[in-house]
Amino acid sequence: MHVGTIKEIWRFPVKSMGGERISAANIDYAGFADDRTWAVRDDETNEIATARRIPKLMMLKARYLTEPTTGFGPVAASRVEIEFPDGRRVSSDDPYASAILSMYLGKRVTLIPRPAARDKAAYRLTQPMSPREIRYILGMSADDPDPDFSWFSLKVLTNLSKYTTPPGALYDVYPLHFITTAALDSMNAIYPEGNFCSQRYRPSFVIETNPELTGIVENSWRGRDLRIGDALIRCNHPTIRCSMPGTQQPGIHQDPNVPLTVMRHAGQHLGAYASPRNRAGIQLGDSVELVDQASTKLYVWFDDVGRRVKSQVVKAGNRIAQWQEQKRDPSSALKSPYPRGFRPFTLVKREQESSDIISLWFQDPERSELPRFVPGQHIVLAIPQLDGGLVYRPYTLSSPGHQLDSFRISVKREVGTVSGEPAVGRGSGWLHDQLAVGDRMAIKDPNGQFGAVPTDSRPLALISTGIGITPMLSILQSVAKENPERDVRLFHGIRDPQDFAFQGALEGLKQQLANFHLQLYVTGQGGEPPVGSHAGRMTPERVCAALPDVDKYDVLICGKPAFSKAFHDGLLACGIAAERLHFESFGASLGVDDGDQTAYRIHFSQSEQTVNWNPAQESLLSFAEEQGIDANSGCRYGACQACECTLLSGEVRYPDDVQPPGGKNKILLCSARPKSDLTLAL
Ligand code: FES
Repeated sequence: MHVGTIKEIWRFPVKSMGGERISAANIDYAGFADDRTWAVRDDETNEIATARRIPKLMMLKARYLTEPTTGFGPVAASRVEIEFPDGRRVSSDDPYASAILSMYLGKRVTLIPRPAARDKAAYRLTQPMSPREIRYILGMSADDPDPDFSWFSLKVLTNLSKYTTPPGALYDVYPLHFITTAALDSMNAIYPEGNFCSQRYRPSFVIETNPELTGIVENSWRGRDLRIGDALIRCNHPTIRCSMPGTQQPGIHQDPNVPLTVMRHAGQHLGAYASPRNRAGIQLGDSVELVDQASTKLYVWFDDVGRRVKSQVVKAGNRIAQWQEQKRDPSSALKSPYPRGFRPFTLVKREQESSDIISLWFQDPERSELPRFVPGQHIVLAIPQLDGGLVYRPYTLSSPGHQLDSFRISVKREVGTVSGEPAVGRGSGWLHDQLAVGDRMAIKDPNGQFGAVPTDSRPLALISTGIGITPMLSILQSVAKENPERDVRLFHGIRDPQDFAFQGALEGLKQQLANFHLQLYVTGQGGEPPVGSHAGRMTPERVCAALPDVDKYDVLICGKPAFSKAFHDGLLACGIAAERLHFESFGASLGVDDGDQTAYRIHFSQSEQTVNWNPAQESLLSFAEEQGIDANSGCRYGACQACECTLLSGEVRYPDDVQPPGGKNKILLCSARPKSDLTLAL
């Protein structure tokens, strides 16, 4: 029976990312030959990443730069290009591809070619999903009945319990997945605002069904074959839908009512899983025939009997898993003295850079190669204290992104006053006075949204004062390696020439970078000013006047919050577009003490920590850092949105001069303080 024609064919070069529309595809027993040949690996869990666990993957798109060949691993991998929401495109052979992905996703990941089927370890689940997580992903409330996994074959159920995807493939459940226009139209009729387009569901192909077919017709095709061109494809069973199609994707708005509509009106099923039965090709416009088979009734009968048996097994399994989850000892998460993601490093070298700045080199005794990072990013140190406790401090890396044997940070001894008495920073003081070569301390891998990709070609203007030079050093060294012809201008302010740290390193960079311009501004009198330096304070106007064409430059600013704010406002006034301005600040944030001394309960949902708010902290950002929770940050005064975070419950307050973010349930950690108990997606 003729049921329709092929309207769309899709392939997805990188698992969990958006794909590309194609006009024809070769089908093998494992699905489309060129589908999902790359994946992202979560380096923290060593698992192949899925959008269920890292939803931001849904915002990325991938396409092939060279046509793929069949096979596995780096030899067979063809080049892909990943497109980010801001339009940035990164090729898989860019040495910084994984670092850029990690920066965007906010966690360490590696872009990997599809591992071979025999490499089962690469596919293994290290954190099986709990029943609670499954319900959350399926968008089910506590009152909804258990999801019915008895649709899946025993082989699929076994795979799902052990692997992220079947070894040798990167699809979730079955090699192919299709959807019909009749099914999409039926959902659109129920919820017209929902935009039930095929891209939400990322099918392998879409069948434009004949006009007389209405509703979710594919539900009735279970156990039957479709003949499409020369291809014979078995419809295994209806696709179980999770909440993912309701999330935002490129060109598609977020709408939780979309999966809710499918759950309430379609029994959580839309589209169908399918398996190829021969090697063949399909193309756009191919006629789709539903094959009459004597065996279908038998298939469905066996399937139904099997489902009834499996249903009991799955229910029993669910009950056991729920019982285990309830019984799980919550204190087991506390066995490590550090929050998740920290591991021990050894200090292998320290050097005095100026009277109050030291550089420290750390190596991981377990790994000879550290992850590449985007220069400008920071690491977080868990710094021991004399009272036996720990304080957590982020430090920008001053080593280049390609230096893989050690991390270097450069730390200024922070001096201030407490109750009118001189005091040294708890973090920097310990690093300066106590830490010796050979000592170990826990460090979290590089993170943060501030940085410049060395392989880009856009001109760079780097603006810093004092210890704000550290990310700029990292950027300059990295650009010197990857792109020595790039136009890079450094504007740096110092107080006294005698305390000018890294002068030698900057002189060396002048030899390595063909288009490097350094403008130094000196405000103090201590010592002989470096040749060519400018006397007086660096201002946005002076920087703008020195830039040959302000529109050309990506601008990175690093200094104290007041400095960053002055440059942010000043450079905007000079005509530099807001999206070209990037910030990182250090030192105290500009938060205010609101007089509320309540020790609210703050729950960090991703880190699984619940702690009492410390009213002495200026903001939720500094509070999270105090707890060792690595949160993104930039300007630290409410301008750049880098610290935006999802507030899952509770209320916050802001200083009068900070504009809260527009997104629903979004807060700016750097400026917000709690007004009630909170749950944060951190
Ligand atoms: S760090 Fe810039 S807005 Fe919070």
